Amino acid sequence: MANKPEKDALSGVETTGHEWDGLRELNNPLPKWWLYIFYVTIAWSLVYYVFYPAWPLGTTYTKGVLGWSQREEIVEKLAEAKAAQGKFLTAIAAKSVDEIQKDKELLAFAMAGGRTMFNENCAACHGAGGQGAKGFPALADDVWLWGGTTADIYQTIRHGIRADDAETRGVVGIGMTAFGRDGILDRTQIDQVAEYILSLNGKPSDATKAAAGKTVYEENCVACHGEKAEGSLAADLTDIGAPPLITANWIWGGDKASLVETITNGRAGVMPNWAARLEDTTIKQLAVYVHNLGGGK
Ligand code: HEC
Ligand code: HEC
Repeated sequence: MANKPEKDALSGVETTGHEWDGLRELNNPLPKWWLYIFYVTIAWSLVYYVFYPAWPLGTTYTKGVLGWSQREEIVEKLAEAKAAQGKFLTAIAAKSVDEIQKDKELLAFAMAGGRTMFNENCAACHGAGGQGAKGFPALADDVWLWGGTTADIYQTIRHGIRADDAETRGVVGIGMTAFGRDGILDRTQIDQVAEYILSLNGKPSDATKAAAGKTVYEENCVACHGEKAEGSLAADLTDIGAPPLITANWIWGGDKASLVETITNGRAGVMPNWAARLEDTTIKQLAVYVHNLGGGK
């Protein structure tokens, strides 16, 4: 029912003249500033439709006269990133690990890439940050079984240790001799040489057994671990892979039970040959990263 517009007595606002069961509609127009903004947004959307992708049309959409697309923008950005990476990778491919280390930019790139690749491929055995675990040597220290120069580390990662690879380090299946299992030493002698190693490390040990153990050591262990038990730290013992027995960083454990176990049953850690699995540029970055973890030489 439409009546004539009139003033509402209570609010003093004009009504629209519409009335429903005694309820009358007040005529409160929208504020001007609100209306203008509203018109501007409509105008803007029209401009937008013309220039940018807007309306879905079945399997396609209106592309807009600019031809802009978010996907293309991503493709472009990816291509840019790849080109930047490609520049570094080409340089890395052409340089030795040593030369990479001397180039500040390349070094930073290799360290970042090396860290990611280390976490993906190596941390499972060597621990995050290369701190090592039982049976897996620490890479963040300055004890190197097979040499700690960039070239040594690169070679070790490429060809592995006791791995199925013509240029691997060591010999497959051969490591620390199983003196007990192979019947070379009896239990008493093993006990004695273990006490001797404890004494070398300043740990509580039986002096009489340790003295006898020194002889056992000299007769059986010097060839690989050196006269002073310095193992691979000695310049002439770097191609045997026998660790120093005077160290805080034991691979297999420096307590009495672990020592007896190692000497009785031997050990032969295997490290995969990564050249079979990773690109050469990746291995170079890993070598840079590992070399910088701790005491690279
Ligand atoms: C399956 C376990 C395993 C994985 C994975 C592994 N390693 Fe090893 N790695 C070993 C073992 C075991 C040794 C020690 C072998 C030995 O007794 O000489 C070793 C030794 C090394 C050494 C020699 C250390 C020294 O003192 O000379 C380097 C360097 C090394 N690993 C780097 C790497 C890198 C880099 C990766 C990842 C690409 C990696 N390793 C992944 C098991 C592993
Ligand atoms: C043929 C060379 C060779 C001889 C001889 C040898 N070792 Fe070893 N030893 C090794 C190698 C190689 C390893 C490292 C094995 C590994 O990490 O997988 C090793 C590891 C060890 C370890 C473990 C070190 C650690 O960090 O956990 C102990 C302990 C050890 N040897 C003691 C001895 C004693 C004692 C003798 C003499 C009775 C001896 N070895 C004789 C090659 C030898």
